[in-house]
Amino acid sequence: MADIPDLTSEQFRKFADLIRREASITLREQKIVLLSNRLRRRALATGCANFDEYFAFVTSKPEERRPFLEAITTNESYFWRSTASFDLMKKVALPQLLKAYPKAPIQIWSAGCSTGEEPYNIAMEVTEAMKSLGVFPYQVIATDISARVVDFAKVGRYSGRKIEKIPPLLLYRYFRADPESKGQFLVRDDLRTKIDFRVENLFESTPRNIHCIFCRNVMIYFQKADQEILIRRFYDALVPGGFLLVGHSESLHVLQADFTPVHCPDGVIYRK
Ligand SMILES: C[S@@+](CC[C@H](N)C(=O)[O-])C[C@H]1O[C@@H](n2cnc3c(N)ncnc32)[C@H](O)[C@@H]1O
Repeated sequence: MADIPDLTSEQFRKFADLIRREASITLREQKIVLLSNRLRRRALATGCANFDEYFAFVTSKPEERRPFLEAITTNESYFWRSTASFDLMKKVALPQLLKAYPKAPIQIWSAGCSTGEEPYNIAMEVTEAMKSLGVFPYQVIATDISARVVDFAKVGRYSGRKIEKIPPLLLYRYFRADPESKGQFLVRDDLRTKIDFRVENLFESTPRNIHCIFCRNVMIYFQKADQEILIRRFYDALVPGGFLLVGHSESLHVLQADFTPVHCPDGVIYRK
């Protein structure tokens, strides 16, 4: 198979502009080799001889939009990732929300859910929290721009590194071994039905009446102006007194405007 050399600076800029327009993801030129590798697979798969041909292809064929977006997103995720967020949800957000909204089902949004570990992890932690807070109705909405990861997430089948941090007791409680595939574990059906998975761009989706948003390890891919737009959208999506949780390495300065940061021993959670 003919190889395609790495993107030139000019080609990189054209693709980077397109990616910003389509997904609001900002790529710096240090990522030129990474982007070349990701796009090369699509270029070859679509029969293009070079990146200029592939650019013309992706911008003229609407059916290439989905695989293009799938190729350029970074979907790293695993269970029990940065557990401080879950502790903040259980210790700070849920007690206050249940007091303020005793009748409403608690709606939690996993924004940029990737392959589903985060929304399932939220559902497990909510179920665990019910032991001290009492039983309450809830739902998790999970969205991602990549249809491939959402399709994977809906199945709820995991193995290896993705599940290695789950405490054994909780793995036993919330998963069952897949009888058809050794070493694979399936999320229990009653938990799976709690998650409403959707393919959505965060800059277009408009959930409302959300009580708690998790948007972790997603905003790092956006530039400051887009982060600000997104934070505004999250603010509008939340009920009064609703909460936002971000990844521990994400820059927080843009959050200060509208949200009130609540500093806790486990980290910071933002209240509307
Ligand atoms: C690194 S993963 C983070 C997954 C999970 N939140 C976690 O912390 O483990 C980032 C996800 O954000 C998604 N994403 C990036 N830009 C997006 C956008 N504009 N709209 C929706 N999802 C987006 C990617 O497809 C990817 O699955």
